[in-house]
Amino acid sequence: MTETARQLIDALKAGNRLQENDFLQILRLADVENVEYAKSLANDLRIKHFGNAIFLRGLVEFTNHCKNDCLYCGIRHSNVDVVRYRLSKEQILDCLEQGYAAGLRTLVLQGGEDAWFNDERMCDIVSAVKSKHSDIAVTLSLGERSYESYRRLKEAGADRYLLRHETATEWHYAKLHPSFQKLSVRMQCLEWLKELGYQVGCGMMIGSPYQTTECLATDLAFIQDFRPQMVGLGPFIPHHATPFANEPAGSVETTLFMLALVRLTLPKVLLPSTTALSTLHPEGRLRGILAGANVIMPNLSPTDVRDNYSLYDNKANTGLEAVEGVAKLDKELSTIGCHITVDRGDARY
Ligand code: 5AD
Repeated sequence: MTETARQLIDALKAGNRLQENDFLQILRLADVENVEYAKSLANDLRIKHFGNAIFLRGLVEFTNHCKNDCLYCGIRHSNVDVVRYRLSKEQILDCLEQGYAAGLRTLVLQGGEDAWFNDERMCDIVSAVKSKHSDIAVTLSLGERSYESYRRLKEAGADRYLLRHETATEWHYAKLHPSFQKLSVRMQCLEWLKELGYQVGCGMMIGSPYQTTECLATDLAFIQDFRPQMVGLGPFIPHHATPFANEPAGSVETTLFMLALVRLTLPKVLLPSTTALSTLHPEGRLRGILAGANVIMPNLSPTDVRDNYSLYDNKANTGLEAVEGVAKLDKELSTIGCHITVDRGDARY
């Protein structure tokens, strides 16, 4: 008997392990009603495990120099129009203080793959953050590095690491990246990070060029097996100065459905409602939460560099995704019965 999308969604909710083909059937067969059903189950699961608390992560985009050349990304190495910047350690610590005062207890240091931030400099920054505020969790998002580098950063005090896998399908990865960037290396890095005891986040864009429904099913099966503590997932949005300038953006609805399926697959996962989602839809952030997301990442970067950290066009900058907007954000969340928490929001598995 072939199962219906609803039966498969129920099986996932009941804690069953699905095959890649089951995920594919869910994605292929689901009608509007099934999608709404999955989102409401995911929202219930979020409430069951986290109540109405939404975790905040203060994001500092500390360098837009990048040696990589991802075809989708606005700060890719080949984009010569970008005004490149690096924040100093003092600037990063200033961002930290602003975030701390606003109640944020996780600092996410995100940057391009920038050799200037070698292990010595990065470890120095991480330990400075930790010695200023021992109750702050430090999340790094610095791309691919060596095992030894990840080890040293962990030793310096880093708690978590975000490294989106972008797609778990080899041929698709090759369509999105130049040949010197390899999916196998990305996956090796994710394994190392896990082995070293980081709380690890992987993730992908929804609707990236060439992505098929099979790719998304493969991503869900990978996430089910890898069991990351965090999953970063947002729609692809074209950037005018990349080879994908004329490609269509990903769908908001598919992104919401994928958020719900990730929540159903890993009930306790930490799942941000991303800025990319807010960029495509004015209610994107809230809709993400109602589909199972439980994390928001306000931007702590100095305002004068924000425009230069442009991964895609029209990045939302209405104030609500920035640190200045924490009170407003809390008010917005109250319209769906949620509230911000200052809890560090560590993984529960
Ligand atoms: N649209 C949406 N997300 C993007 N990212 C990079 N470029 C884009 C884009 N054009 C995402 C990638 C990367 C993360 C930091 O931002 O998934 O891992």
